[in-house]
Amino acid sequence: MSEVNLKVNLGKLVLKNPVLVASGTFGYGIESHDFLDVNQLGGIITKSLSLKPRIGNPPQRIAETPSGMLNTIGLANIGVERFIMEKLPELVKLNTTIIVNIAASTVDEYVECVKILDREKVDAFEINVSCPNVKEGGLEFGRDLNKVGEITSKVVASTNKPVIIKLTPNVTAISEFARVAKEEGATAVSAINTFIGMAVNVYTRKPKLSRITGGLSGPAIRPLALAKVFEIIQKVDIPVIGIGGITNFEDALEFLIVGAKAIQIGTHNFVDPSSPIKIIEGIKKHLIKFDLNDINQLIGTLQVDQ
Ligand SMILES: Cc1cc2nc3c(=O)[nH]c(=O)nc-3n(C[C@H](O)[C@H](O)[C@H](O)COP(=O)(O)O)c2cc1C
Repeated sequence: MSEVNLKVNLGKLVLKNPVLVASGTFGYGIESHDFLDVNQLGGIITKSLSLKPRIGNPPQRIAETPSGMLNTIGLANIGVERFIMEKLPELVKLNTTIIVNIAASTVDEYVECVKILDREKVDAFEINVSCPNVKEGGLEFGRDLNKVGEITSKVVASTNKPVIIKLTPNVTAISEFARVAKEEGATAVSAINTFIGMAVNVYTRKPKLSRITGGLSGPAIRPLALAKVFEIIQKVDIPVIGIGGITNFEDALEFLIVGAKAIQIGTHNFVDPSSPIKIIEGIKKHLIKFDLNDINQLIGTLQVDQ
């Protein structure tokens, strides 16, 4: 196969190709080696890490839905310190970009996590703002423009590494949140996290999830996610990483053509853990088929009839 350039630049974050694996669907990045060559990935995004370990929500934590799934895992994770001791030594041996995803209950916790990890060999941070703000009534940080601005500016001030703000779609105008992230110095935004959803067992009349509502992901959300990415790209000049329901190279190309500089595979990792590699190969073949030798010739080339 002739050589094509898949390298993409998201400001100061450079990826060898635009295919990443999404937080919470690829463990800590070292569990899936039997299924794919992780070194071929554009990058790995870890499960969300908090300052202290979290056990997460009680079962039932997942439910299947038409073309997707609901989850209320509740950010279960081993905490920053154990991650550094037990997982990072393996992770840093890989020849791919390592992005650590951070979740927190207070603004200070985000900053503390980033400061601790800043000393380590990680390449960038993805900040999950879809977490309840415990100090102010539990509303998600990601639905409060001021809080997203404050988190972004404080995190950016605590590291020289690229900071990606992962946006929630559960707001009226996602582009406003991307704008604030840009103004406060974020390198890029990831769009999107899950949509709020719900399912009921009609025989028991109980919610299928222990926390009643949860996050909807998978192919069911792809057109919604694509429209959110499109909105941001129309309105804000910041690199966007597209996420939502991607299962094959054509799904990935939709996001890239709309203007996303990179994409993440989430739920589909549970269906086919080798799919990120198939998607990279599929993108390459597509470029060759259309006589293109650089992925950047395709990014942001949406043809809209006037
Ligand atoms: C089981 C599960 C766990 C997830 N955990 C996290 C997480 O810890 N942190 C985070 O930022 N996003 C998390 N997500 C959201 C995904 O990273 C992604 O944004 C979302 O699922 C949409 O992409 P998809 O449709 O390809 O799955 C999780 C999603 C699923 C399905």
